[in-house]
Amino acid sequence: MTGVTEFVRVPHPAPTSDEVRREILAAPGFGRYFTDHMASITYSTELGWHDAKVEPYGPLQLDPAAMVLHYGQAIFEGLKAYRQPDGGISTFRIEANAERLATSARRLAMPELPEELFVKSITELLELDHEWVPAAGGEDALYLRPFMFSTEAGLGVRPADEYRYLLIASPAGAYFPRGVKPVSVWLSTEYVRAAPGGTGAAKFAGNYAASLLAQAQAADEGCDQVVWLDAIERSYVEEMGGMNLFFVFGSGSDARLVTPSLSGSLLPGITRNSLLTLAIDAGFAVEERRISTDEWRTKTKSGEITEVFACGTAAVITPVGRVKSAEGEFTIADGEPGEVTMALRDTLTGIQRGTFADTHGWMTKL
Ligand code: PLP
Ligand code: COI
Repeated sequence: MTGVTEFVRVPHPAPTSDEVRREILAAPGFGRYFTDHMASITYSTELGWHDAKVEPYGPLQLDPAAMVLHYGQAIFEGLKAYRQPDGGISTFRIEANAERLATSARRLAMPELPEELFVKSITELLELDHEWVPAAGGEDALYLRPFMFSTEAGLGVRPADEYRYLLIASPAGAYFPRGVKPVSVWLSTEYVRAAPGGTGAAKFAGNYAASLLAQAQAADEGCDQVVWLDAIERSYVEEMGGMNLFFVFGSGSDARLVTPSLSGSLLPGITRNSLLTLAIDAGFAVEERRISTDEWRTKTKSGEITEVFACGTAAVITPVGRVKSAEGEFTIADGEPGEVTMALRDTLTGIQRGTFADTHGWMTKL
């Protein structure tokens, strides 16, 4: 049910100056700066989706008994708006993000935001904040973070009757400070991110909270990221904290790509799904199946696995160079970015940035 006919626009009374915005856009980092406005839509069981607006970015007022603060109904999405060579702005697979937000909402017993409202919140925000989209020709983009949480006050444990959907935006460069330099990963056997029947396939805030201790452990071990394994046997690779994983077997035109199958406890990444298609377009064989840490180690040592990379909206495609676990460590090939990894990266970013043909109709001009 939606009672939204239009978004009320409340422009910022004192928006960021051109000079300050230019300074920010010169070195945005990741998730450090936010644009002048945010989009907001309210939900109640009684009224459905209503009170849609774009208003100045700023703090929220929340009842201390708001159910999200106690029982954690909070989900989010991540996508980017890319400046195109003609100066326009486009998003990549926006409908897939709308659909995944709805899937996450169902798993967390929250209301689904209709796709047209999801898309409209983005177009409305960018009407006011389009100058925050970084220039074409580089690696930067405007990262969009739609999210939704329960606002009803009360301590009874049940799905809330009131929610708020918000969209904020943040100019973003590389997620990893070293750019496309290979990252090192820690295999987590002590902690588990998600179990069968749990919330692992939803973009649910609690999954990220549950990952922080293992991520800190990875950092203590001198690694950039944690790799999650299956909850039962603790031996099959699932994904990383905010990225899916691909393994390249062989090389050249005989290269074959393997990615862990959607087990129900890992996030169905939109980048992962897109790369499965682009790899086939490029003539590579692809497999979605279980892959164990034993297979990863032994086939890297035998030279069968030649490249490994992580992929996601924030991370784009980032090579994995070194793998460490309680049992020791090993390097993938020479520890440098591989050919297949970089070729797929060029194709994906070329489509997103409007320099390669969008043959799958993935881009939406805003
Ligand atoms: N896995 C997790 C846990 C994530 O948070 C993300 C990021 O969104 C991904 C995978 C990659 O998903 P996508 O390619 O849709 O950004
Ligand atoms: C994204 O890639 O959009 C994510 O949500 C990952 C997060 C770790 C930044």
